[in-house]
Amino acid sequence: MLPACRQVRLGAEEVGYASTMSIPWWQQGAIYQIYPRSFADTDGDGVGDLRGVTDRLDYLSELRVCAIWLSPFYRSPMADFGYDVADYRDVDSIFGTLEDFDHLVDEAHARNIKLLVDFVPNHTSDQHPWFVESRSSRKNPKRDWYVWRDGRGANLPPNDWPSAFAAVGRAWTFDKATAQWYLHSFLPQQPDLDWDNPDVEAAMHDVLRFWCERGVDGFRIDVVQKIAKDPLLRDPRPAEPITWEDWQPTIHERLRRLRTVVDEYPDRMLVGEVYLLDLQRVLAYVNTGDELHLAHNFVFLHLPWDASAFRAAIDSFEALSSESAWPAWFLANHDHARVASRFGAEQARAVLLMLYTLRGTPFVFQGEELGLPDAEIPPDRVVDVDGRDPERAPIPWRAPSETGPGAGFTTGEPWLPLTSAAEELNVSRQADEHDSTLSLTRRLATLRMAERALQSGEQRSVDAGDDLLAWLRIGEDGKELLAVVNFAEDERGFRCPPDLRGTARLELSTDPARRSPELSLDDLRLAAAEGLLLRL
Ligand code: NOJ
Repeated sequence: MLPACRQVRLGAEEVGYASTMSIPWWQQGAIYQIYPRSFADTDGDGVGDLRGVTDRLDYLSELRVCAIWLSPFYRSPMADFGYDVADYRDVDSIFGTLEDFDHLVDEAHARNIKLLVDFVPNHTSDQHPWFVESRSSRKNPKRDWYVWRDGRGANLPPNDWPSAFAAVGRAWTFDKATAQWYLHSFLPQQPDLDWDNPDVEAAMHDVLRFWCERGVDGFRIDVVQKIAKDPLLRDPRPAEPITWEDWQPTIHERLRRLRTVVDEYPDRMLVGEVYLLDLQRVLAYVNTGDELHLAHNFVFLHLPWDASAFRAAIDSFEALSSESAWPAWFLANHDHARVASRFGAEQARAVLLMLYTLRGTPFVFQGEELGLPDAEIPPDRVVDVDGRDPERAPIPWRAPSETGPGAGFTTGEPWLPLTSAAEELNVSRQADEHDSTLSLTRRLATLRMAERALQSGEQRSVDAGDDLLAWLRIGEDGKELLAVVNFAEDERGFRCPPDLRGTARLELSTDPARRSPELSLDDLRLAAAEGLLLRL
């Protein structure tokens, strides 16, 4: 079995968890996001399950992933495919049982792979017993666990907040039974909990404890900025990128309390989906060192394919960071078009190089290691209200020509069609090809686990000329690695800064055509969309 994520000490051999000099596990290597519905199906119903994840742990071990983040598998009517939770403490039967979950934790830990689960604190399903009670009468003790308000007049909701899903329209639904409106930042089937109510907060803390006791190593927190809303429910201000509803100072005390709960257990980690497009505000979630460990950086995800935009985002993150902040780099998840479809197939390889070699934790969305594009979803197969089916298509494990349309994902009818590129991009085929994207990702992951400079080294941006993004990683032992990515659609020359003259050794290129192991930095040229990692 290959070592995945271990606790290592700077300048010394492997040690236990206690060392103050150690690199936390969540900084060492990649965290791999699994969308369980689409990963691997073991019972032939066309939907992935927890046993499917357990069955593929050796694949993840070979990818050297440090941790898995599992998107929701809790009991749910699946209006938002699991982000509408009806029971925070149970596994939906479509995904398996709590015993399957326990088995997955044990098997992941046996391979030194940590496990994060998705914590969905902002809303429940409308089928959750709390909401069923809450909507039953204005006097019910659970009434104020959710946000119920009178309207501003006949058929007028309490304010103009929109749902995050354009197709839903406003974020309020009128409930005839008690003649009041309830807030739902997403679907009407996802009523928002009222975090101003301390009983709600305490109940959600207990959910964290439940999963910590079951052995999980941390949580990805869904739309965490929404657990502190404007108590006055003011309307959005036009032309403001951050609305009242998404920016309340109370968030910080709530995050500190969440952190205190997970700190009751050793070595747990919190990463937040902080969906704020303002780096200063995002950094406020991680800079004090007693709130989140990591914040997903959506500014990065929304960048155009442009070297100077990437450079500015990376440098500003560093400039705004405190000593405690640590970046979490990601360019894909289950809510956004895949990198290969947004930027191109070659660019998707360069992105992998970026994720694994920038200072910070790489988050890799399942299938990104294969360079998968989005799937085409015919109109009669669309199931998501917000157009996110293409990136959620199941993983092709084997060639459809050998296995049928399930491509090793399922023996049944897959819940979403697979990508039409499954024949070329399936796991089994890529595993045997030296130049495949899967082999590239494995090499990157191996380098990341082996090189202290990549795990914890300093980072310095390098001015390398138009369309080139370049940065140095400098280890404590003085070892230096230089990464360069060409964002242009044709060749570009590297403008070598005076302090970097001489030759360098090729560690890796995303371009299979590059062969020579020694390169001169003075006349280095990069192919279109090439990413390079050089040892100085
Ligand atoms: C963010 C999740 O990533 C997305 O899939 C979900 O629809 C919303 N939050 C609501 O939970």
